Amino acid sequence: AGAVPFHGEHQAGITTPAQDRLHFVAFDVITKDRAKLVALLQEWTAAAARMTAGKDAGVIGAVGGMPEAPPDDTGEALGLPPSQLTLTIGFGPTLFRDAQGRDRFGIADRRPAALADLPHFAGDALRPEISGGDICVQACANDPQVAVHAIRNLARIGMGVVSVRWSQLGFGRTSSTSRAQDTPRNLFGFKDGTANLKAEDAGLLREQLWAQPGDGQDWMTGGSYLVTRKIRMLIETWDRTPLAEQQQIVGRTKGRGAPLGKGDEFEEPDFAVKGDDGEPVIAETAHVRLAHPAQNDGARLLRRGYNFVDGSDGLGRLDAGLFFIAYQRDPRKQFVPIQTRLSRHDAMNEYLRHVSSAVFACPPGVRDAADHWGRALF
Ligand code: HEM
Repeated sequence: AGAVPFHGEHQAGITTPAQDRLHFVAFDVITKDRAKLVALLQEWTAAAARMTAGKDAGVIGAVGGMPEAPPDDTGEALGLPPSQLTLTIGFGPTLFRDAQGRDRFGIADRRPAALADLPHFAGDALRPEISGGDICVQACANDPQVAVHAIRNLARIGMGVVSVRWSQLGFGRTSSTSRAQDTPRNLFGFKDGTANLKAEDAGLLREQLWAQPGDGQDWMTGGSYLVTRKIRMLIETWDRTPLAEQQQIVGRTKGRGAPLGKGDEFEEPDFAVKGDDGEPVIAETAHVRLAHPAQNDGARLLRRGYNFVDGSDGLGRLDAGLFFIAYQRDPRKQFVPIQTRLSRHDAMNEYLRHVSSAVFACPPGVRDAADHWGRALF
């Protein structure tokens, strides 16, 4: 139930051991006034520092103020512990240049090359109204009420400057980001996060996760690029698929999560080994073969996704899936080539629909009380 430090070299909520709950929001900025936007980022930072410490969003609090005024906190987290709340901010391509090509805030020349628009992938069924966004905030916590409270209060504080474009709730992490955590399962029933980048992999994090000096825009040094994909999973069809076929699609066993042909979860997959029938034990179209660094020039991702069930779809099916979240040093070298390969060849595609997509530049951490979100950018 403790607190995760808000200040630091990197933003919390990336290598922080993945919490169980998510509320992710993408905002559009509705003012053209740069000073108003910067003032909001300052106000948000102060509120975020307070809420991640388990305090009310405002200094006066939910019940301490004048009865004539609306409270500076909405109150539903009163009495709840910090619950490992982390709030992680990112800036989308449209903040730098909007859909009409306008440089609303005079920062177009500060857009990192790595914050490129994602290409269209085979099979994409994206809905624009739940894709993209100027600014995102990822709230993760071990109590859903705490995560929702945080996003709600940021939206409240942002009134007149930003409006909510879309938001997503997630339950049940689908990745571990530390070796101290057990690997959780996704809604296909498989362990997810086994071969993830982990907080303990210092060298790999430098090479694959954090933007380094000289990568491009200095304001991003120590930051990371975030790709989100809302992926609907056609679980009713999956549930009629035989176990052996499910395992062949993933390339791992359902029970232990071991690579096919191996016994333990954390053994390295052997993609060369063939079965008695002469076919590879891990199929050419298996998800883990196609996503493995060996097929992708060594590229890796720090995955941090969540399961979702948004009720049902009116056609007798659960509206369920994975809200995929991945952090990386450069999506052009990581997410894009991996997803290009997956979108063309992954046997899992028959059971998946990508319905939303977004990319954000997440700046480095807020250093201290004098620093604020986006200070080096504006
Ligand atoms: C591995 C499921 C989408 C990238 C895995 C594993 C499972 C899984 C069960 C094996 C365990 C593990 O190492 O984590 C899913 C499901 C998806 C999905 C159900 C969609 C709903 C994606 C997407 C990407 C991706 C969109 C990236 C473009 C990876 C990577 C690995 C992996 C990089 C590790 C491969 C390795 O190094 O062995 N996924 N995945 N996955 N997935 Fe996915």
